[in-house]
Amino acid sequence: MAMVCLSDFEAYAKKYLPKIAWDFFAAGADDCITRDENILAYKRIHFRPRMLQDVSVMDIRTKLLGTEISFPVGIAPTGFHQLAWPDGEKSTARAARAMGTCYITSTYSTCTLEEISAAAPGGLRWFQLYIHRNRALSQQLVRRAEALGFQGLVLTADLPYTGKRRDDVRNGFCLPPHIKLKNLEGAFEVCKMNPAFHSVLDPSVTWKDIYWLRSLTHLPIIIKGILTKEDAELAVRHGVQGIIVSNHGGRQLDGAPATVDALVEVVEAVQGRVEVYLDGGIRKGSDILKALALGAKCVFIGRPVLWGLAYKGEEGLQEVLRILQDEFRLSMALAGCASISEIGQHLVQFSKL
Ligand code: FNR
Repeated sequence: MAMVCLSDFEAYAKKYLPKIAWDFFAAGADDCITRDENILAYKRIHFRPRMLQDVSVMDIRTKLLGTEISFPVGIAPTGFHQLAWPDGEKSTARAARAMGTCYITSTYSTCTLEEISAAAPGGLRWFQLYIHRNRALSQQLVRRAEALGFQGLVLTADLPYTGKRRDDVRNGFCLPPHIKLKNLEGAFEVCKMNPAFHSVLDPSVTWKDIYWLRSLTHLPIIIKGILTKEDAELAVRHGVQGIIVSNHGGRQLDGAPATVDALVEVVEAVQGRVEVYLDGGIRKGSDILKALALGAKCVFIGRPVLWGLAYKGEEGLQEVLRILQDEFRLSMALAGCASISEIGQHLVQFSKL
């Protein structure tokens, strides 16, 4: 089977993954309106391409908080990679390093942070944190990640409780016995039918907890799950270094806006004071170009990572990233941009958004 675009990996994963794993990866909350909008919103944005711009030499490198990456696509945090591939997050780390990009490692990884670091020494990694009621556990995770050389701390802000994903409820989604949340072992068992799953995350977290995190670590703090100018302003005022505009892939509040639609107001509010990134619905190179034109410094992909892993582990994920990289380079060239710094709002029909 020739893998030409990311939908090919999606079709493969749907065909070959066990139904319960596919359903878990694909799930959105309630009617999946937001999940689907993340993708549809890109179809409503059109380019204003420029011609005769000398695109014979292309430079698609960029920087994330000062560290160079090979192109503006990183790996969003997703849990349970061993559901897609036996080596799980170790394969993800290797593929990210091979492709020269950033891997945001989830709290809900199925390999330990130590295993992940050892699998790809020197790779750029940020650690994603869910704050647990057991603060000592969260504190210990942050300290471990920093000691292991993770270079950023991503606080996910949009999950005080888990959204209602109907197929997971119908399937009684549980991790199979051989797969464990290795960084939280003993802390709890993942079974969404089990109310204990919900009770381990701390729903009382507020902006003040950014100061608590600040007291634990020297790492830059990036907040994930922001969708409004009000929260963007609060994030800046609380001293974060980056914002990820995200609706959790449409898995939390159904009816939240598509991320590329929310991006504009966040970028306007932030006024360049911190870096703004986006995830949700990125499926091809031209989506990346649209998000960058509207002010994102970099985008992150969630589900396509799991499809790549399901296809061929590390190799499959590299293929996904390579396809996106090639498509992005081509879209840039066809729009008349030879380097990232030439991408701006003039490239999209902003007035019609
Ligand atoms: C997620 N996401 C997520 N986010 C997070 O902060 N921590 C996590 O552990 C997870 N886990 C997770 C599992 C699965 C199966 C999915 C699909 C998503 C959300 C993720 O980081 C990201 O916001 C979305 O996946 C981006 O949307 P796309 O690229 O999947 O459309």
